[in-house]
Amino acid sequence: MSDVNSLEDRLAQLVAEAREAGSLDALRARWRTLTEVAATPRDAGETGRFGLIGASPPMRAVFDLIERVAPSDVSVLIHGETGSGKELVARALHEQSRRKGKPFLAENCAAVPPNLLESELFGHKRGSFTGAVADRPGHFVAANGGTLFLDEIGDMPLEMQAKLLRVLQEGEVRPVGSNKTTKVDVRIVAATHRDLVAMCKTGGFREDLYFRLNVVTIELPPLRERKGDVRLLARHLVKSVTGEIGREVDISEEALEALEQWSWPGNVRELENELRRAAVFADGTIRREDLSPRLLGEPG
Ligand SMILES: Nc1ncnc2c1ncn2[C@@H]1O[C@H](COP(=O)(O)OP(=O)(O)OP(=O)(O)O)[C@@H](O)[C@H]1O
Ligand SMILES: [Mg+2]
Repeated sequence: MSDVNSLEDRLAQLVAEAREAGSLDALRARWRTLTEVAATPRDAGETGRFGLIGASPPMRAVFDLIERVAPSDVSVLIHGETGSGKELVARALHEQSRRKGKPFLAENCAAVPPNLLESELFGHKRGSFTGAVADRPGHFVAANGGTLFLDEIGDMPLEMQAKLLRVLQEGEVRPVGSNKTTKVDVRIVAATHRDLVAMCKTGGFREDLYFRLNVVTIELPPLRERKGDVRLLARHLVKSVTGEIGREVDISEEALEALEQWSWPGNVRELENELRRAAVFADGTIRREDLSPRLLGEPG
């Protein structure tokens, strides 16, 4: 009942604010935030699972999915915006699996030049190309028994996609410049911020590889759709930046409310950076005025 009363109070306050600002959109945005915050338990003592902070309904659904799919060997595709926690989910899948204790290796397919990606993943024989001064096992061999996280899979060149598909189908890799194949037992977790279905339609991504990787998709909700987690994340992140800046910092209720209003296009990473910056400026407690001016403008 007190929750209802406090929501009623907030609604009355919001209507008054919107009248003053003359903006219905602002009212809608603030109301959405308020209902998301109200849907996230605050006092249950629950702050997250598997190393991920969150208690909002969409994050609970993600936790359930991690719990269900982690123990099996099926390939998982993680889809989400930048900074939303895709790598943390990949690690959680590994840690919750029977492969825990075996290697977890990550490759960012967008960061490696296309001609090197094959050797990174499958390894190479000495002398197979300029600079290949010694035999080198690739990630598939190094991650044997464990998990290989293929980040930014949507940026993998088509030629490489064909080679990856063959490895996944046959369960063996052939290093560049070698004619011998090696059997590998590796679980694949892939991630992307791109729309792979749309890419398949326009020929940018192989449909057969898409189906192979996407046995299960974990859709990571952007932070603006789980505003109830902002407060939990902020408290957690303030503690971790405290260590970095070397002094105790707290965060005020007004600052938390302001953080809940922002739209967080850069998701949790943006929140982390914002708090790092605010902690440096804050005098013991992060107050509303310690936050970046852009956050204090239009509600998100
Ligand atoms: N639910 C969460 N709980 C705690 N920290 C989080 C959470 N989600 C993300 N983070 C933190 O935010 C930062 C970004 O997370 P991560 O690197 O997993 O995102 P990403 O989706 O892989 O981003 P990108 O697409 O840019 O690679 C990291 O420092 C991570 O620790
Ligand atoms: Mg990432």
